[in-house]
Amino acid sequence: MNWDDTTDEAAGAAERLVGPAAERLVDSGADGEDQAVEAALRPKDLGEFIGQEKVREQLDLVLRAARARGATADHVLLSGAPGLGKTTLSMIIAAEMGAPIRITSGPAIQHAGDLAAILSSLQEGEVLFLDEIHRMSRPAEEMLYMAMEDFRVDVIVGKGPGATAIPLELPPFTLVGATTRAGLLPPPLRDRFGFTAHMEFYEPAELERVVHRSAQLLDVEIDPRGAAEIAGRSRGTPRIANRLLRRVRDYAQVKADGHITQDIAGAALAVYEVDGRGLDRLDRAVLEALLKLFGGGPVGLSTLAVAVGEERETVEEVAEPFLVREGLLARTPRGRVATPAAWAHLGLVPPRQAGGKGQQDLFGT
Ligand SMILES: Nc1ncnc2c1ncn2[C@@H]1O[C@H](COP(=O)(O)OP(=O)(O)OP(=O)(O)O)[C@@H](O)[C@H]1O
Ligand SMILES: [Mg+2]
Repeated sequence: MNWDDTTDEAAGAAERLVGPAAERLVDSGADGEDQAVEAALRPKDLGEFIGQEKVREQLDLVLRAARARGATADHVLLSGAPGLGKTTLSMIIAAEMGAPIRITSGPAIQHAGDLAAILSSLQEGEVLFLDEIHRMSRPAEEMLYMAMEDFRVDVIVGKGPGATAIPLELPPFTLVGATTRAGLLPPPLRDRFGFTAHMEFYEPAELERVVHRSAQLLDVEIDPRGAAEIAGRSRGTPRIANRLLRRVRDYAQVKADGHITQDIAGAALAVYEVDGRGLDRLDRAVLEALLKLFGGGPVGLSTLAVAVGEERETVEEVAEPFLVREGLLARTPRGRVATPAAWAHLGLVPPRQAGGKGQQDLFGT
């Protein structure tokens, strides 16, 4: 979806949200508009990068030491959920090293030859950013092992019995791999990174700083409380914070004088059906069904999915991870169960002794 920045945008907000789950405002993946705006909002150096204190401190040491030695930095693996800043950090690594960056991704490398072509054209010290590194093909992966360790690749010339491997020396380079699924990386690949950064979800206070910084870059006036309101609904994810900020800005322009206050932010996000905790319509529908139709569970995933009129996969992969992370829903062997926090969040009172012993066992109440 490619939304442009016209001012009557907020007016059509409600209708636009009636779409597939993939287009949700609180989805942590990047859509077309995000990609365009993100480039402008990306912090350019480590000092500008907000939060992730540990990762920043460690990475700073790795890069400083390499610079002091006049060497190329060790290979870096960045793992973490979508929208937490992996691509941003990879660009920062190149900038801090004063090196050019080449960007590609696992799915783009189908054959080992594709990788050989990229590797053999790298300049000394260049940063090679390999996004979604867990989705690379096996043969390419094996070529990468040797390239990472020995800065060498074997280029296969010819086919069948007559094929020969021609060794090719590579200039030293820094591989920056990014993955949302570190668990899927084969250990030999994981072990070849000198430094692995695990990116965590952001604290609300950090997201407030992200919102303030982005507002400044977008030339939007925002109150501290307005920023806090947006941060609190952003699911610990800077990409979502930036997206909510843009939608709130639209609302502020159309319905007010453009200045974002707490009230404006709250009213705007109510239009977009993003609640105080960052749950959207789908998340709330799942919770409501679980509480109102099934007394808080346990209920099977398929039954729950039918009740909200969605596919099983949508409920399981789109709605549940955040609900589980927020401690609102638990996946148990007997089915999905609402936690006491879920009842509280929807302002409902749990039926006394509902679920009987099962719920008592689960929560020790
Ligand atoms: N620490 C941060 N400080 C400020 N802004 C940030 C930070 N981290 C991320 N952002 C913002 O969030 C947006 C998304 O970040 P980025 O594209 O780096 O995420 P990602 O981890 O690569 O996501 P994906 O897994 O989808 O590729 C960027 O535009 C950037 O402006
Ligand atoms: Mg990325």
